Amino acid sequence: MVEVLISAEQIQKRVDELARKIMADYDHQPVTIVGVLTGSLLFLADLMRRLELPLRIALIQASSYRGTSTTAGELHVQMDLLPDLSGRHVLVLDDILDTGQTLAHLKVELEAMKPASLKFGVLLRKIGRQELHLEPDYIGFEIPDKFVIGYGLDYNDEYRNLPYIGVLQP
Ligand code: IMP
Ligand code: MG
Repeated sequence: MVEVLISAEQIQKRVDELARKIMADYDHQPVTIVGVLTGSLLFLADLMRRLELPLRIALIQASSYRGTSTTAGELHVQMDLLPDLSGRHVLVLDDILDTGQTLAHLKVELEAMKPASLKFGVLLRKIGRQELHLEPDYIGFEIPDKFVIGYGLDYNDEYRNLPYIGVLQP
């Protein structure tokens, strides 16, 4: 059973607002959006079609292994798909800021590629969970410390297709 935390309508309205803010901030400058697979897919797709800016899209895969067989929280980033980002205005999009490990790691890797600017946008931020300091430039919603699914977010790779954000009930 899934309890709806943020409805599809609320998400779409907020994505509209974020798109307007991003367009105002970049003011017609070309932007390269780097989407973090797989969780950012729906957010990326909904946001990019609202951005009237010269836009490039790139994707990276970030996965953390938190099981017992690998080091807890060890992060693997697959950057092979990235184009040259030097001199470009880069906006990284992820589904959720939890501990901050993923985005803090990406920040180091992407800064090394010498972008003209580097910003971060997340659909969700979990309150009280950040271990590493990274303040995203764009945040959709702040949510309580609960495990959420839908709109790109998964539990065991399921539920990503839900148009809303939900909390899975046992
Ligand atoms: P961080 O590196 O701890 O900030 O974790 C970020 C990643 O963990 C996200 O990109 C998600 O893939 C995953 N994650 C964190 N919290 C949740 C959740 O509540 N539901 C689904 N995935 C989550
Ligand atoms: Mg993710």
